[in-house]
Amino acid sequence: MKAIILCAGKGTRLRPLTFTSAKQLIPVANKPVILYSIEKIKEIGISDIGMIVNTENVSAFQDALGDGSQFGVKLSYIIQTNPKGLADAVSVAKDFLDGETFLMYLGDNLIQEDLVDFARDFEQKKLNASILLTPVDDPSRFGVAVVNGDAVLKVVEKPQNPPSNLAITGVYLFDSSIFEGIANIKPSWRGELEITDAIQYLIEKSYKVRGHVIYGWWKDTGRPEDLLEANRRILENVRHSRKNGSINGGSKIEGHVIIEEGVEIINSIVRGPASIDKNSTVMNSYIGPYTSIGQNVTIENAEIENSILLENSVVRDVDVRIDSSIIGKSATVSSIEKKPKVHNLVIGDYSSIKLG
Ligand code: TTP
Repeated sequence: MKAIILCAGKGTRLRPLTFTSAKQLIPVANKPVILYSIEKIKEIGISDIGMIVNTENVSAFQDALGDGSQFGVKLSYIIQTNPKGLADAVSVAKDFLDGETFLMYLGDNLIQEDLVDFARDFEQKKLNASILLTPVDDPSRFGVAVVNGDAVLKVVEKPQNPPSNLAITGVYLFDSSIFEGIANIKPSWRGELEITDAIQYLIEKSYKVRGHVIYGWWKDTGRPEDLLEANRRILENVRHSRKNGSINGGSKIEGHVIIEEGVEIINSIVRGPASIDKNSTVMNSYIGPYTSIGQNVTIENAEIENSILLENSVVRDVDVRIDSSIIGKSATVSSIEKKPKVHNLVIGDYSSIKLG
């Protein structure tokens, strides 16, 4: 069995972060989202993975992941020139998949449960398609499945009146019959070739399509608030502390905190769960729970909690606590001493700033 990870979307909901990187490469608890997916896929025993990327983000993925050998997998990069939908992304991988069964994973998804039973069931029952489902409160935001036992009777994309509360998560298993489905669908009302339409085709042609329901935590990290929630969930599970940096006598570290090499904590309070990556400096500051600080970050005279700070960012002399925020690579947040007190902003396109 092979796997494909879909990373070729535009990521418009995460602009401006996605202007300079892909959303799947944004770190959550200081590890890029995509690495969590690669680990899940490896757990099933799949090592041959096709990365579906676009012409703009391919080099960012290649720089971050290379050929995959450092993660124990073999990565091939497959370009989807124009991201026209999930079914289109599968089509471009046809040669790579070469008739084998495959796992399809949406690269911005995080799943707590392991996928071993899901894959075993698919192989043992010789299914044509199997979709990972989970009950949700707001099914109209998702693809939704109607099931009878484990048989899928119907799938529908983002229904106004959801026929069930079972959302289709971002993980699917297929054999090559999905290509017959894809060849027989047309773009949807939103102009995309929907994988749900190709699955619906398989159901109508009496192929064996099953659903596998999971109850553990699952998150599609497409929006800023999703990334922050994922960050909270993952940090919550940190059950140990690691303190490799230098912690100055006046500082206090509470709860589970990961402090990597080269970090300096000077006269500050760090209250876990939190993660501070290599060579960052925290001085005269408070770092509150659920905060992930990337490499080479400088925080001085500031209070931050429940936030993600990406590498090389700087927060200095800010007198209002920063909360529920994502600060991009090399971004600076600071205050000015001059009177009158004004906001002096250089904000990238599609940024969102909420002043307290
Ligand atoms: P989406 O989050 O639905 O789309 P997107 O990534 O373009 O983001 P936005 O809606 O904010 O503009 O995509 C889900 C996953 O599938 C994501 O990892 C990107 C991937 N994808 C492709 O690889 N090809 C595609 O044609 C589409 C639509 C998505």
